[in-house]
Amino acid sequence: MSLIYKKVLVIGATSGIGEALAAKLVDNGTKVIVSGRRQDKLAAFVSKHGKDKAEAIAFDITKLDAIPQLAADVTKAHPELARVILNSGIQRGFDFTKPANIDLSTLGEELTTNHLSFVHLTVAFLPHLQKHKNETALIYTTSGLGLVPMVRCANYCATKAALHHFILVLREQMSDGPGNVKVIEIFPPAVQTELHDEKHQPDIKNGGQIGMPLDEFTDETYKGLLGGKDQIPVGMSKGAFEGFELKWQEIFKRMTEGMKKMMAQHSRNLPTRYTHYFRNVLVSPASDLNKIPQRMNSPASDVMCGLLKDQLLKNAALQASANVHPVTETPTDSLVGYSFACPRRSETKYRNAK
Ligand SMILES: NC(=O)c1ccc[n+]([C@@H]2O[C@H](COP(=O)([O-])OP(=O)(O)OC[C@H]3O[C@@H](n4cnc5c(N)ncnc54)[C@H](OP(=O)(O)O)[C@@H]3O)[C@@H](O)[C@H]2O)c1
Repeated sequence: MSLIYKKVLVIGATSGIGEALAAKLVDNGTKVIVSGRRQDKLAAFVSKHGKDKAEAIAFDITKLDAIPQLAADVTKAHPELARVILNSGIQRGFDFTKPANIDLSTLGEELTTNHLSFVHLTVAFLPHLQKHKNETALIYTTSGLGLVPMVRCANYCATKAALHHFILVLREQMSDGPGNVKVIEIFPPAVQTELHDEKHQPDIKNGGQIGMPLDEFTDETYKGLLGGKDQIPVGMSKGAFEGFELKWQEIFKRMTEGMKKMMAQHSRNLPTRYTHYFRNVLVSPASDLNKIPQRMNSPASDVMCGLLKDQLLKNAALQASANVHPVTETPTDSLVGYSFACPRRSETKYRNAK
């Protein structure tokens, strides 16, 4: 297969999926920086693949306060780094019918490892990635269990579902820049790794044999990355993904558009220069179109620009056809945001227009 990335940081690369994916990347010409807590495993990876192809950084991602320094160190040493794979994770079983047996600190550790640390890592690496001119990427490993939960590990499934929602929103937010950061999600099914090992989940026997063979999983995932997909369900995860997740995401997209319009009306954070447009837009000729900036500094602002343009075009049509004051049919139907900016003037104009 061909080279997809020049250099990647793989967090959670001391065993299982992360190690296999890092090895696959190296085999195809990518330089990798592997990370995880187990120093011996990191050293073994570097010695197997060679120092020219692999470097290692031992790091515990639950040390949230140390994450900004990690990102600063890595990006200083590797300014060309354009992709980070956030793959680490743990799984623990909890039986809530026996609440006295629930170890809440273990539950907290699982939440921090699988979700919170990824949010911190995202925040820490984004400024560096956003500065790159070319495409960069944050690549997350969630799970099919983030779509459909499994009864024995409620908290694990919740952490993956939380991460999945976070990723969907992050991708949407990053779609308009700044930067060119692609947000990719890998949804593994059960895969034969250390995740289900007895050392972590003593009630499971032969946990390493559960699920899809690791090399099959890795090949399919690599093909997904090679194909430029931003959502890569693998093996059995495809059932839920194709069965309902894609439909659900259509609702998410529609809701996102609706929310943008609503927030454009209610946000207190619109740039002050907007109020100028709001005050004048209902009486503005279409020739004012060129005064509206092409892009502003947030997706909501961009939507506002679009709405303003629509309104100016409507104004022109109204003026041409009926020689009426260019105010739309009802105050609430008038330009979104106008009544927010100056409600009294909006109403007066409406009355005068009638
Ligand atoms: N295997 C499956 O059936 C399956 C299914 C769906 C999703 N997944 C997801 O796939 C990802 C990889 O898991 P895996 O199956 O490959 O399991 P694994 O073999 O146990 O690997 C887990 C990796 O996460 C790292 N890790 C855990 N806690 C960490 C911490 N505090 N700081 C830094 N690294 C940490 C481990 O490194 P150290 O121990 O050296 O720190 C290891 O490299 C996880 O996110 C998992 O939830 C797996």
